[in-house]
Amino acid sequence: MQIAIDGPASAGKSTIAKLVAKQLNFIYCDTGAMYRAVTLMAKKNGVAYGDEKQIIELMKKYQINFKNETDGQKVFLNDEDVSEQIRSVDITNNVSEVSALKQVREDLVKQQQQIASEKSVVMDGRDIGTTVLPNADVKIFMIASVHERAVRRFKEYEAKGVSVSLEKLETEIAERDYKDSHRLISPLKKADDAIELDTTGLSIDEVVLRVINIIKNN
Ligand code: DC
Repeated sequence: MQIAIDGPASAGKSTIAKLVAKQLNFIYCDTGAMYRAVTLMAKKNGVAYGDEKQIIELMKKYQINFKNETDGQKVFLNDEDVSEQIRSVDITNNVSEVSALKQVREDLVKQQQQIASEKSVVMDGRDIGTTVLPNADVKIFMIASVHERAVRRFKEYEAKGVSVSLEKLETEIAERDYKDSHRLISPLKKADDAIELDTTGLSIDEVVLRVINIIKNN
């Protein structure tokens, strides 16, 4: 079974997708983490974020793997745990440029389709329902207001001891929404057959319950 969860940054996709996958005993695939891992490859090797040719060469040298550990799912680049590094402010601010590269997308989409062909999956991203898994059993398009998403990011950064203003986060989120929805290849877009779920003002438990109900009633 394939559950696709798409939506803009910080709408709650990964938090919810992880919990839903756990309840259903499905695997969870965080496709945003894969684009972040490719961005990190470029950074580590001093390759410009727009240099598609060099980035494709790097992708041949690195394998992106997910491993489930007791404290959650970890992301590995070859043997290195990069789960923290891919969430840095620098990677977050540059991942839109890398994720707009055509060949990078083609390569990662193939990897994502391979993962989904092996086991029942909850996959989250921007183009899962439209491009990666167009025949997914359930498609959810998760949204929340820019303010609410900025507050969520603010709390995440605060917990990490990173200080950043709420206004700056609102501007960054709005910019990333614009870039993600206006890029030429696989822009962020609600699939025609996706169910829209607005998580503004809802608790995590409430959203999980709604998603499970959508899946059950499908
Ligand atoms: O969900 P996230 O913030 O970790 O995603 C990081 C970036 O990757 C985001 O700016 C958009 C991009 N992305 C994408 O283009 N396609 C996906 N399927 C997932 C993420």
